[in-house]
Amino acid sequence: MTNNSEKKVFVKTYGCQMNAYDSAKMADILADKGYVSTENSEDADMIILNTCHIREKASEKMYSELGRLKKFKEQKSADGSRKIVAVAGCVAQAEGERILERSTTPDMVIGPHAYHNLPAFLEKAKAGEVVTATDFTEDEKFKLPVGDRVAKGFSAFLTVQEGCDKFCSFCVVPYTRGAEYSRKVEDILDEARLLVDKGVKEITLLGQNVNAYHGEDKNGAIRSLAYLIEKLAEIKEIFRIRYTTSHPNDMTADLIKAHAEIEKLSPYLHLPVQAGSDKILAAMNRKHTARSYCDVIDRLRAARPDIALSSDFIVGFPGETDKDFQDTLDLVEKVGFASSYSFKYSPRPGTPAAGLDDQIPETEKARRLQALQALLFAQQQEFNRSLIGRSLNILLEKPGRKEGQLIGKSPYLQSIHTDAQGKRVGDIVTILVESASQNALSGQILSVN
Ligand code: 5AD
Ligand code: SF4
Repeated sequence: MTNNSEKKVFVKTYGCQMNAYDSAKMADILADKGYVSTENSEDADMIILNTCHIREKASEKMYSELGRLKKFKEQKSADGSRKIVAVAGCVAQAEGERILERSTTPDMVIGPHAYHNLPAFLEKAKAGEVVTATDFTEDEKFKLPVGDRVAKGFSAFLTVQEGCDKFCSFCVVPYTRGAEYSRKVEDILDEARLLVDKGVKEITLLGQNVNAYHGEDKNGAIRSLAYLIEKLAEIKEIFRIRYTTSHPNDMTADLIKAHAEIEKLSPYLHLPVQAGSDKILAAMNRKHTARSYCDVIDRLRAARPDIALSSDFIVGFPGETDKDFQDTLDLVEKVGFASSYSFKYSPRPGTPAAGLDDQIPETEKARRLQALQALLFAQQQEFNRSLIGRSLNILLEKPGRKEGQLIGKSPYLQSIHTDAQGKRVGDIVTILVESASQNALSGQILSVN
């Protein structure tokens, strides 16, 4: 007889870190119902595809995965058992029931606001019902307990804010994740304490627009991200705090000051600029200019001279001329980024930019992307090399591939490899950086903190 504890769930995550956090939360809810997580879709009783809708490529990946799963689903039902397939995440939210018109594989289509109902949906699906849930409900999902998937390892994500009110003209997020919502300060601190009790030492605060955080404290006052970071920094066991992703217009004075004053706050900031031309920034509805972005960077560098920056870029936005693209390259030269993500513009259904005239041909987008990436990679390499000879405080997170090797993350998010020298994962050590490649650093442990 199959007993509940033998059930297996496979969660596949696409896209951003918030999806990774949500996937872990879903795995934790299902663990409460006796589902063990597996890395193998073939022997899973339940499969969740936690999808991304940000660019066309990301959502197409989901459809090809559904096609692949169809076969396994049929095999499993041939021997009398049922494999439940759920489409979760932003494609579920954006496309809803249309997914079921394109594929017969899913038993559930559930948007990011409905995960707290997963056990109830699972029961319905087991009874043969096809479940769709894409309403924007109260954010009950945050009341879920923190389990071992969310608190896996020594570094954990913690969602503090979800949704976005910015409506950049290329972006689906305001439609898939809804309006900006900030969790209460106390709920976040409670979750952080639970994470710490499970051994977590580094927390990355997540939000689509995390620095727009404006959550209520226990007295009903509205508090900023800077306040939240200050409170989290008071938790002794927390060694490092990071946050992502931020909008330049929400880099408030108190947050910049937090970078100057809170030692636990990582000297690294992901601050997407998207483009360097004011004409394109206006068409993107970014509500900032190249100049105002650079001013924010100047203030951050004045507050914390060793801060490093990363950004997202979109090339080939409708109407982008060679001159506009050159403005992006000029901005990159001027700012100097430690790392970056860059994309070809992908028209997304329902967003204002998708209907603009003067869409740029794919070949031109590809050419610009290559030119931008060459510059960004060179900057990344130069930044990594500049760390050689520096001593960095590192949380050792996992064993490396080589015997006796351990891996941690630098304050700037590169992996750093070192000889264990008797140290263990979870230890915080000072490492002298000795070499650097495109994506990683390595060095020797000088001391244990
Ligand atoms: N096309 C290309 N890139 C996009 N991004 C968001 N929407 C699009 C789109 N339609 C990029 C932005 C954003 C990152 C998460 O994805 O650079 O910051
Ligand atoms: Fe999308 Fe970020 Fe713009 Fe919000 S601020 S609409 S999440 S790109």
